[in-house]
Amino acid sequence: MNDEIYDLGHGFWSIRGSFIKNGILDIGVQSALIKLASGRFIFLDSYTLTGDIHQKVMYLTNDGHDVEAVLNVHPFHTIHCAQMAQDFPQATFYGSSRHHKQIPSVSWADDLVESDAVTERYAELDFSLPKGIYYISPNDAVHASSLLVYHAASQSIYVDDTFEIPPSKLFNAVQPNLGLHPTTKQALRDEPNAGKQYCDWATELAHKWRDTRYFCGAHSGLVEFGESSFEAALLSAIENARSELQSS
Ligand SMILES: [Fe+2]
Repeated sequence: MNDEIYDLGHGFWSIRGSFIKNGILDIGVQSALIKLASGRFIFLDSYTLTGDIHQKVMYLTNDGHDVEAVLNVHPFHTIHCAQMAQDFPQATFYGSSRHHKQIPSVSWADDLVESDAVTERYAELDFSLPKGIYYISPNDAVHASSLLVYHAASQSIYVDDTFEIPPSKLFNAVQPNLGLHPTTKQALRDEPNAGKQYCDWATELAHKWRDTRYFCGAHSGLVEFGESSFEAALLSAIENARSELQSS
């Protein structure tokens, strides 16, 4: 899979990268570059930029000098952080507590990426952390949670793993189907109503971010939704999963 960068307008660029799973299958991975009102830039997630993509990013960001921060929003997506920190040494690196432990060579900011301090720093973005499931699961094969981000100006939702588009539906751009991550049930917290908490959170998100046009998924690619169809697709995914999630 060739790396690509897509200009979604209003200061949001979706970067599509490569991630080879188990040495065989390229399931893709993502990053995003966002221009702030101040004229400076941040990245969502770390990725090792090469070739044309690297050139384009350097052109946009004054050779990287205008990149002020990298927000690493998935606790288990860590493999590019060390390289990204070398490539953008002046940027502030935000991550989860797991990032801090996994990649101690990066000089992480004290504020965690999911903290109110970071939310307040970036008014261009809305953030949402799933409820009812572990953000950092004790089982490191469970990747259902992540910090979700919405960029209202470009109507782009940025989501690593938590929601995904089944590959067979990727070609139907008008009404793409949405699914929950396959490990969502395993990720439920061991507490009463965890399933309900998750479903209520996702339902609220579907309404709140109903204007989503571009879905940027780590392993689902970049998918464009028709008007109001993101909200309907997410509500339908929740209804399909609700009885199973609330059964335990
Ligand atoms: Fe992932």
